[in-house]
Amino acid sequence: MVGSKLCAPLTLSLGVAALVAMLAPAPYASAADPNAFNRLMTPPSKRNPPPTEDGIHDPKSTGTQGLQTPREAFDPLPKAQSGNYIDWVKSFDEQKIQPRFDRNDPKAKPVIMDLTIVREVKGSMPDVVFPHKQHTEWLDCSNCHPALFVPQKGANQMSMASIMLGESCGVCHGKVAFPVADCRRCHNQAKGKPAPTKTSAVSKGKK
Ligand code: HEC
Ligand code: HEC
Ligand code: HEC
Repeated sequence: MVGSKLCAPLTLSLGVAALVAMLAPAPYASAADPNAFNRLMTPPSKRNPPPTEDGIHDPKSTGTQGLQTPREAFDPLPKAQSGNYIDWVKSFDEQKIQPRFDRNDPKAKPVIMDLTIVREVKGSMPDVVFPHKQHTEWLDCSNCHPALFVPQKGANQMSMASIMLGESCGVCHGKVAFPVADCRRCHNQAKGKPAPTKTSAVSKGKK
């Protein structure tokens, strides 16, 4: 009885149509975009938002509005499946970008070292190939040695758990380099293959 007493004025004031609308299941806000709830599956239209919407830059600053949008800047670059959806290694190889090696010296050239280290992985995942070449095109030896890794094959403890916690390879991967979700870019050598680990050819200024 209490219920009907409460309901009566409500029905009168809102009208039948409104009440029916209230009782009908609420349409999901994301019905048009089934992936909207999952931040790991950003729909293409929401990827690499302009500086005014990226949550990093101050949207009120006129300087922010003057910045080139990532979508415009990234348009000519080879695409990837994750991260910021650009394959930066390919972009570099195809000379679509020429990153400055030293912030203060536009003529500084990287010391590129072509030495791959294979880390055998327990279990069924393919082995991990760490290529010095693709790293030294962007980074200095001192970015990794000796603070992150002792420069000696096999001397460092690495595990997926520590990488996910932002240590080891995870200091960069998932932050400034392609994310951990891209398993096959690191785990890319079938088990039992002879390791290509060979000489350390250090080349100064090769590009
Ligand atoms: C992005 C990080 C990173 C950068 C930059 C880097 N290295 Fe390494 N380096 C590694 C890792 C990882 C290993 C393998 C360590 C292991 O297996 O425990 C390694 C191993 C080595 C080894 C041992 C090779 C062997 O066979 O034992 C040498 C020598 C080395 N690096 C020299 C260099 C030099 C010289 C540079 C700069 C030109 C450089 N590294 C830049 C991460 C890096
Ligand atoms: C100091 C930062 C840093 C660390 C530490 C680091 N990486 Fe990288 N890595 C990069 C950058 C930067 C690139 C090139 C940009 C990109 O691909 O996002 C790269 C590229 C790569 C590539 C090249 C992929 C390709 O397409 O050729 C592989 C493989 C890779 N990293 C594996 C590793 C592994 C395995 C470790 C740990 C042993 C590691 N990296 C540690 C920064 C780092
Ligand atoms: C940035 C490079 C990188 C990426 C990306 C990556 N891994 Fe790894 N993974 C490693 C390294 C390095 C090791 C340690 C190898 C060793 O023992 O020397 C490892 C080890 C492992 C191991 C062995 C157990 C352990 O924890 O050491 C498994 C399983 C594994 N990874 C699964 C995955 C899966 C699944 C993904 C994708 C979701 C992935 N990895 C992505 C670098 C990577």
